[in-house]
Amino acid sequence: MRKQIVAGNWKMNNDLVHTESLLSDLKKQTQTSNAEVMVAPTFTNLYHAFEALRTTNVVVVAQNMHFAENGAYTGEISASMLKSVGVETVILGHSERREYFNETDELLAKKVDAALTNDMRVIFCFGEELTDRKSRNEETIVKNQIKNALFHLNAVAFKNIVLAYEPVWAIGTGETASPEQAQDMHAFIRKTLANKYGNEVADSVSILYGGSVKPANAQEIFSKPDVDGGLIGGASLNAEDFYAIVNAF
Ligand code: G3P
Repeated sequence: MRKQIVAGNWKMNNDLVHTESLLSDLKKQTQTSNAEVMVAPTFTNLYHAFEALRTTNVVVVAQNMHFAENGAYTGEISASMLKSVGVETVILGHSERREYFNETDELLAKKVDAALTNDMRVIFCFGEELTDRKSRNEETIVKNQIKNALFHLNAVAFKNIVLAYEPVWAIGTGETASPEQAQDMHAFIRKTLANKYGNEVADSVSILYGGSVKPANAQEIFSKPDVDGGLIGGASLNAEDFYAIVNAF
């Protein structure tokens, strides 16, 4: 049985004071689902979040990392540095990193390898642009993103891989993919995995949906058979909204 996961990607939001406030609000929430809960603060707040959530079941996640162990990479953070502050899961391949920081499939493959080498779990993001969907090319785009960054891995590696399908046209726009669109793409992703690694691996990988998930739409999206939870942006910045989504299973 694969895990249900709801992860909050805070993006570039919350200084230390606001982080402390949101963490305090999150700790007051009640979880009624069996989902694994994750939050991804910014780098400067990771250790504080790890310490503040140490007595809870909430997992602290990094929003990115570099592929090198250390060296002349000004401004970057390595896997071992993340692990030194208690962080063992990292988001890689988010569309905003692909767009604003020119992260290619090839670079992401190196980052995935570095994370797995350091026994970290990876939430690997991918998704098509609006132009791809309008031209009915979304499956080719998604298949290539997954193949180029992940299909050099062996089957065992997928124990530490969570996939996050985030159609770019749904991120931050309020234009959520319909539950049917999400299910269709998740089923395609799972079939793509099965064709490469077999059904056992494909059925074990959690596939999250991201892109304008809100308390009002989460339950219908999460009810789909190949949707295993969500990667949440804006709604993760409010504790009540975030836990309404956590409890939407
Ligand atoms: O990583 C999750 C994020 O891209 C989705 O953002 O604001 O549409 O929930 P949002």
